[in-house]
Amino acid sequence: MTKKTVLRGASLSFHADPFVVGDKDSYTFFKDALIFIDNGIITKTGSYDSLKNEITDDSIVHDYSGRLMTAGFIDTHVHYPQTPMIGAYGKHLLDWLENYTYPTEAKFSDKEFASQVAKMFLKQTIKAGTTTSMVYGTVYKESVDAFFEESEKLGTRMLCGKVMMDRNAPDELLDTPETGYKDSKALVEKWHNKGRQLYVVTPRFAPTSTREQLEMAGKLYNEYPDVFMQTHLCETEGEIAWVKELFPERKSYLDVYDHYGLVGKRSVFGHCVHFEDEDFKTMSQKKASIAHCPTSNLFLGSGLFDLNKAKTGKHPVYVGLGTDLGAGTSFCQLQTLNEVYKVAEMKDSSITAIKGYYLATRGGAESLSLEDKIGSLEKGMEADVTIWDLSSTEILDYRIKLAKDLEEKLFLQMILADDRSVRATYVNGEKVYDNKNNYYKLD
Ligand code: GUN
Ligand code: ZN
Repeated sequence: MTKKTVLRGASLSFHADPFVVGDKDSYTFFKDALIFIDNGIITKTGSYDSLKNEITDDSIVHDYSGRLMTAGFIDTHVHYPQTPMIGAYGKHLLDWLENYTYPTEAKFSDKEFASQVAKMFLKQTIKAGTTTSMVYGTVYKESVDAFFEESEKLGTRMLCGKVMMDRNAPDELLDTPETGYKDSKALVEKWHNKGRQLYVVTPRFAPTSTREQLEMAGKLYNEYPDVFMQTHLCETEGEIAWVKELFPERKSYLDVYDHYGLVGKRSVFGHCVHFEDEDFKTMSQKKASIAHCPTSNLFLGSGLFDLNKAKTGKHPVYVGLGTDLGAGTSFCQLQTLNEVYKVAEMKDSSITAIKGYYLATRGGAESLSLEDKIGSLEKGMEADVTIWDLSSTEILDYRIKLAKDLEEKLFLQMILADDRSVRATYVNGEKVYDNKNNYYKLD
């Protein structure tokens, strides 16, 4: 970790939810800003003019004038073991799982293989300007060790968990209610709050867990005050019909998880595409979060999530963005936002660029209950910062000169930019990626 670093550039940071307070009152923007970092923490931030005299001799200024600094982007739903199968041709969810996903995940009993994939995943993640992800491992506990070991070396704040699955998958990928609980608990003890690593209890989804396993998952989640929970929910109609058959005694798919104590402030549900008012009500009351994963929902033909209803309907819920690789098609959350916008349009609503950038930063942090640590550029926050080049391609360079204000410029990024726009990524105050000299801390 570098000691005292000062970053200079334009800066954009959110202090409130634009879906609640309106776009204009949600963010602070400085055309020329300084961010002071000491020991991985932001100690001061503000306009260059107001702070320039506070630059001391023992600090190193990294000058990104003309570029935009934001908090590192946050991915609230992603499967690192699916990195080797991103873009695999396949049909809808259940076929895709059986034919591509499970055979790939079966390779992760080999820890060496898992470490190689974890490295590639983390490399692509920081290259895309993302600094925190909520990540699925596989059923093998070694795959989670491999991931956390690599993340710890990089210094990233990451959340990960061992998949629990004891039925309806190939034999080699099954655990049992007892081993799933025991292995997950051992991983909690080993990794949760170790440096920046956080553990997530991870029953894959209701169809691959027996009642006994969901009960054990709920027990584990509730044994610790600050452990997380992630799973999939209401992604496709076929899956919902299957859950009805498997759990006829429950009112709804969400009720299956609720019954076993898996719905709470630190639980994050991937997708929720086919959701009833009652579901939104339960999620809102329990302060649980949804990971909106539009590139995946389009790729698998799962359906169109109603973001505006989720955020501003009668029962508002926390929503973060998920890439959901390998069903999702890009590590870059700008590409996710591109699809967020289009899916919202299909739902007769519109997502402004300000709302998009909020979802990628502070909104993601709020949905992970980590907004006191990450997601904004404020004093006391962990210094995860992404530097963006707003003219990263010829057409963006041309087009951005015609943009009249910040919001238009940001919207152009959402629609036209990709990971080429990431100039540099800082994690815990240290530069871990620089696209000028192709530097990765991981190499
Ligand atoms: N539902 C259960 N497992 C998965 C998975 O790996 N990816 C997606 N998109 N949905 C799932
Ligand atoms: Zn998923």
